[in-house]
Amino acid sequence: MVPSKTLGYMAPMLSLAVLLFLSRFLEFPSISSPLPTAGLPDPRAAAAATTIPATPRRKEPFTDLVGAFDRWDKVVGCERFREKHRGWAPNASALQEAGTGDCRGLEVPHVSVLVKGWTWIPDNLDQMYSCRCGLSCLWTKSEVLGDKPDALLFENVRPPLQDSNSASCFHVIGTSKDGCMEVGSVGPDAASGNLRQKGGPLRVYMDLEASRKPSGFEDIFIGYHAKDDVQTTYAGALFHNSRNYHVSRQKRSDALVYWSSSRCLPDRDQLAKSFLSLVPHHSFGKCLNNVDGLDMALDFYPECSNGENSPPHWYDHLHCAMSHYKFVLAIENTVVESYVTEKLFYALDAGSVPIYFGAPNVWDFVPPNSIIDGSKFSSMEELAAYVKALAADPVAYAEYHAWRRCGVLGNYGKARATSLDTLPCRLCEYISRKGGKNLRTL
Ligand SMILES: *[C@@H]1O[C@H](CO)[C@@H](O)[C@H](O)[C@H]1NC(C)=O
Repeated sequence: MVPSKTLGYMAPMLSLAVLLFLSRFLEFPSISSPLPTAGLPDPRAAAAATTIPATPRRKEPFTDLVGAFDRWDKVVGCERFREKHRGWAPNASALQEAGTGDCRGLEVPHVSVLVKGWTWIPDNLDQMYSCRCGLSCLWTKSEVLGDKPDALLFENVRPPLQDSNSASCFHVIGTSKDGCMEVGSVGPDAASGNLRQKGGPLRVYMDLEASRKPSGFEDIFIGYHAKDDVQTTYAGALFHNSRNYHVSRQKRSDALVYWSSSRCLPDRDQLAKSFLSLVPHHSFGKCLNNVDGLDMALDFYPECSNGENSPPHWYDHLHCAMSHYKFVLAIENTVVESYVTEKLFYALDAGSVPIYFGAPNVWDFVPPNSIIDGSKFSSMEELAAYVKALAADPVAYAEYHAWRRCGVLGNYGKARATSLDTLPCRLCEYISRKGGKNLRTL
């Protein structure tokens, strides 16, 4: 008899017939969500999963990640992994196409964007960009360098109401067309703010929060969704500037899951608690803290310090700290389609495996077999049992890192290509296609 612990890994490797046969006799934690088919959108992929032979393994709470990789290379290997995920079919429309439009559609060869209001846009996005199709793109927070901007960008800060004394209401692109009407009628008497001086800079508004609410006073809207004028995903390196990028080779085998949350939303805490109570974990934030206080990560992992004298911020050492754990619990504050935030991508970047609760279409944003989709399990007990089994199986665990080592990306490549990192060129190209400041009126 095979111990049921190993079944989680074996299941996808056995033929369906064997599975159905066995399941009559054994208590499966889950047939529908075993590694690595959990969350697969495409049943064809499950069929393809039979290519890797099943080898029952003994329970082995390993700590050396690179050693686990070596084992996986011998037992499975990239070739089989690629084969297995050939049928992977994420929804291509969940992400905009970056860098594919016809260059002849560009109407102006240079665009300058002045970042006028912001809450978190990083300073080091400022640059003169050399974009595709020979387009140049100045992105700056400086009113000196960007003295005659084609566009003003506001992020979580509303574009000014009194923008113009112009007589016509400009076409509001995309989702916020109604915004033009709600503040006054279109025409000479529209003494409202939703007017753009003819030839004046376009107003760009960015809101990457779950609600992605246009301000009603913009010409171009940037959100995380493919339907927004310009999409910006959270899969960008610029979301974590000034981090300590050390990645630990050793994974803890005592505490399996890292969690850190300091905005203690009742629903999120409830969910976290119901899972974390079943697995050994460390919770570093304010919510459900179990490491004897805040800012303990540097006490645990001195190598995660940035070596500066200034008081450490939690986000400086987040990446490094989570790399010591096999799993990172990532729970979005809101469950909305396509709202996949840095909470998940941090964990992937840090060489950990996210246990994710959030967007139902998360697989459209991440590589095959890279995360554990918590919502696919029928109970927290089942999820916890699965996570514990995986933590004691170096080969099965290593398979969650195979995408990175074998270059199997699914839609993740596109998600990165539409991240904040590439926003300047993509926005400039969008503006150029619309004719720059000559963007036509209604
Ligand atoms: C694909 O993604 C788009 C954008 O998120 C969505 O509108 C559409 O419903 C999705 N299609 C399927 C089949 O899930």
